[in-house]
Amino acid sequence: MGSPNYTFQGWLGKGPDSVEGKMVWEQYEPKTWSESDVDIKITHCGICGSDIHTLRSGWGPTLYPCCVGHEIVGHAVRVGKDVKKDIKVGDRVGIGAQNSSCLRPDCEECAAGMENHCRRMVGTYNGKYPDGSKSYGGYADYARAPSHFVFKIPDAIPSAEAAPMLCGGITVYSPLKKNGCGPGKKVGIVGIGGLGHFGLLFAKALGADKVVAISRTSAKKEDAKKMGADDFIATDEDKKWAKTHARSLDLIVSTVSSPKMPLMDYLSLLRTNGQFIQVGAPEDPIPAFSAFALIGKGVKIGGSMIGAPHEIDEMLQLAAEKGVKPWIQERPLKDANQAVVDMDAGKARYRICLVNEAHAKL
Ligand SMILES: NC(=O)c1ccc[n+]([C@@H]2O[C@H](COP(=O)([O-])OP(=O)(O)OC[C@H]3O[C@@H](n4cnc5c(N)ncnc54)[C@H](OP(=O)(O)O)[C@@H]3O)[C@@H](O)[C@H]2O)c1
Ligand SMILES: [Zn+2]
Ligand SMILES: [Zn+2]
Repeated sequence: MGSPNYTFQGWLGKGPDSVEGKMVWEQYEPKTWSESDVDIKITHCGICGSDIHTLRSGWGPTLYPCCVGHEIVGHAVRVGKDVKKDIKVGDRVGIGAQNSSCLRPDCEECAAGMENHCRRMVGTYNGKYPDGSKSYGGYADYARAPSHFVFKIPDAIPSAEAAPMLCGGITVYSPLKKNGCGPGKKVGIVGIGGLGHFGLLFAKALGADKVVAISRTSAKKEDAKKMGADDFIATDEDKKWAKTHARSLDLIVSTVSSPKMPLMDYLSLLRTNGQFIQVGAPEDPIPAFSAFALIGKGVKIGGSMIGAPHEIDEMLQLAAEKGVKPWIQERPLKDANQAVVDMDAGKARYRICLVNEAHAKL
């Protein structure tokens, strides 16, 4: 196949103020094509909290110009001749937050199916491939990715719902699954935003006995109950919550994006041998805590990053089988700047999904 008849254009952040609604629509040079790659004509892209951190250089200097967006769904328009996965031109496919890893047999992580922890992992945006080319995300017309990180979307899941699963969904599904969420377990989800609402939905889908939403205020209480939460804690409103709910949960997944979190109180909610898994990625260090918060009940604190490709396929199957329905607000791609400002202001209910009006109906 010769060169494609399309160019790569998208919303580019040029500096930290791009998060204030100052991304500009421009053309850019994608990853150098390889015959194991797939090009996707983008129809949908979710807005993740990580897009906000990256646009404002919150985690360190961003490689501007940067096109964010790593919850991408569209149609395959070019499939390299060395692609081994069953992906054909026209198939509905997606990309999550990871675009590449080394996949070498001697890589401990890749060989064990933990590509998301490969030391040579390349993010879907703001990353650099071994050949020096940059990765660009999904607030755009087209995306290019190595086929190992391209996923077929099950027919049962509409594109606007599948897109946010590819980062927001997998980031909570993976630690829930890995840490035993299921029948017999009581699970708490802290922070009811994009990730957190997926946390409630997937904890239910995995069959947890009890799912508790832990939020700052009661504003999201009714929504959380509709998502399947059996109980709701409003930490800024209920002065006694840490005592009332002490020793009630086996597993907590925290999606909080700010370092301002009552960590010691969250830990008090755990039962003996309970686990607290942080997936939210605040820009500043999280609070200190007393060793006794761990020692007394044999509690473990851990973290988790997105999920491996095999887990993404597994999550999509579960979502299709159980009819997991994320709460999505569709917005036209042309309004990406305003959508980013709204996301940063905490207005998403619960995931904004940009719809590329040139490639899909709104
Ligand atoms: N580990 C990973 O691989 C991974 C992958 C994707 C995203 N992330 C990170 O996960 C975090 C959440 O992402 P998201 O897309 O779910 O974001 P989001 O929709 O903005 O949700 C974040 C939630 O954190 C809670 N929160 C607590 N204190 C806050 C504060 N001071 N300001 C704003 N929110 C506060 C809020 O829940 P309440 O209103 O209920 O209190 C809010 O809804 C981000 O840091 C993101 O970068 C990590
Ligand atoms: Zn993300
Ligand atoms: Zn590797």
